[in-house]
Amino acid sequence: MDVKLPPNFFWGAALSSYQCEGKNHNSDWYLWEKDKGLEGACDACNHYQLFKKDFQLANSLNLNSLRISIEWSRINPRELVISDQELNHYSQVVDSLLDEGLTPFITLHHFTNPIWFSDKGGWADSKNIDFFLKYLRRLVKELKGKVQYWLIFNEPLVYIYNSFVLGIWPPGSKDFKLALKVLKNIIAAYIKGYSEIKRIYEGEKITPEISLSKNMRGFSPCPSYNFGVNNFYAFIRETVFNFPVYDYLSKKRCLDYLAVNYYCKEYVKAKWPFGDECAHITHKEHRNYLGWYVSPQGFYRVLKKLKKYSLPIIITENGTAESNDAFYQEYLIAHLKMVSKAIEEGLDIRGYLWWSLLDNFEWDKGFGPRFGLLEVDYNNFERKIKPFANTYAKICRENRL
Ligand code: BGC
Repeated sequence: MDVKLPPNFFWGAALSSYQCEGKNHNSDWYLWEKDKGLEGACDACNHYQLFKKDFQLANSLNLNSLRISIEWSRINPRELVISDQELNHYSQVVDSLLDEGLTPFITLHHFTNPIWFSDKGGWADSKNIDFFLKYLRRLVKELKGKVQYWLIFNEPLVYIYNSFVLGIWPPGSKDFKLALKVLKNIIAAYIKGYSEIKRIYEGEKITPEISLSKNMRGFSPCPSYNFGVNNFYAFIRETVFNFPVYDYLSKKRCLDYLAVNYYCKEYVKAKWPFGDECAHITHKEHRNYLGWYVSPQGFYRVLKKLKKYSLPIIITENGTAESNDAFYQEYLIAHLKMVSKAIEEGLDIRGYLWWSLLDNFEWDKGFGPRFGLLEVDYNNFERKIKPFANTYAKICRENRL
C-alpha cells in the first residue's frame, strides 16, 4: 500500500496537563485521589519541568503538531487569583512548541477543575460558568498571537458520565438529573467561550479555529443472543453518544472543525449493563491492555458518518495501551489506513494526533496503561522512544503510508 496524505497534514500527538505535568495540587483530581487513597498522579511524567525535552523528542519523531491542555487550577489557583507566573509558564510552553515546529492545539478543559470551583458547586451550577469564561478570556488574550487551534472542552460526555453518572471521577456523583444539568452548563460555556475567543481575535492576523474534542465509539450488536434487538440498541447507543453534541453545536454555527477522539468499539446488548462484554463469542478479537475492543472498521464507519457536517476533521486522539509493540504497530497502521481510505472517499481530514506523546497517568486506572509514543520510566522520568514510534516517525516524515 502506498498512499499519500494531503499536503500540510497535521501529524502529531496529544497530552493533557493533569496526566503528565505533575504536582497539580490545586486541582479537584488531586483532592479526590488523596481523599480516596488512590494511586495519585503525583509527579506524573514531570512534564511541567521537562516540556522542552519532550517537544524536542516530538520534533525528532517528525511530528509537526502537538495538542496540550492548560491546567486551569494553575492559572487560577484561588477564586480571585490569576497567576502571572503560570500564564508566563504556558506562554513559554507554547513558544517552545513553536520553536520545535509544532503547531499548538490548546485544550482549555481536560477533565480537571480548580478545587475552589468544585467547592462552589462546579459545573452543576450555571452561575459558575462565568468563572470558566474569566479564565478562558485571560488565557486566550495571553496566547492569541501564537495559537490558532483551540479546543474549549475535551470529551464532555466522558467527563459527565464518569463524574456524575458512574461517580468514579470527582465529584463522585451518581445522579442522572444532575448529569443533564452539567451537560447543559458545559454546552452553554462552550457556546459563550466560542464567541469570546472570536471576539478576542478580532483584528488579529490569525483566525482562530475552535472546536471541542468529542469521543466517538464504534457500536456493534452483541452477537450472543437476541441479535435483532441488540442491533437496534447499538443503533440507539451510537445515535445518543456519538452525534447529538455536534448536531447541536453545528446548528448553532459554533464549530470550526470536528475534533474526533476514537479508540475502540463497544458491544451492545439489550440488557443492563449495555456495554457488558460478549467475550464468550468474540474472544478471537484483539482487546487492548484495558480490555477495549480494537476496531479500525468502527473508526472508518464513524468517520464516514461525519460527512453530514461538511466541516474539516482533525483526529485529536487515537491510540491504544498495549503490552507488546507489535500490537501498537498494528493498531497504528490499521487506523491510519482507515483515515486515508476516508480521505480518498472525500472526507476532509486534516490531521491525526496520536494519544499520547508520553505514557502517563490514566485517571482512575493509574499508571498501568501505557499509551505513549515515548515510554516513561516513572522512577527517573527518562523517556525512551518505543519501536512503533519510529514507524510513526517515518510515516510523518514521508506523509504517506
Ligand atoms: C481522554 C484521555 C485518556 C484517553 C485514554 C481520552 O478519552 O481524553 O484523557 O487518557 O482517552 O483513555
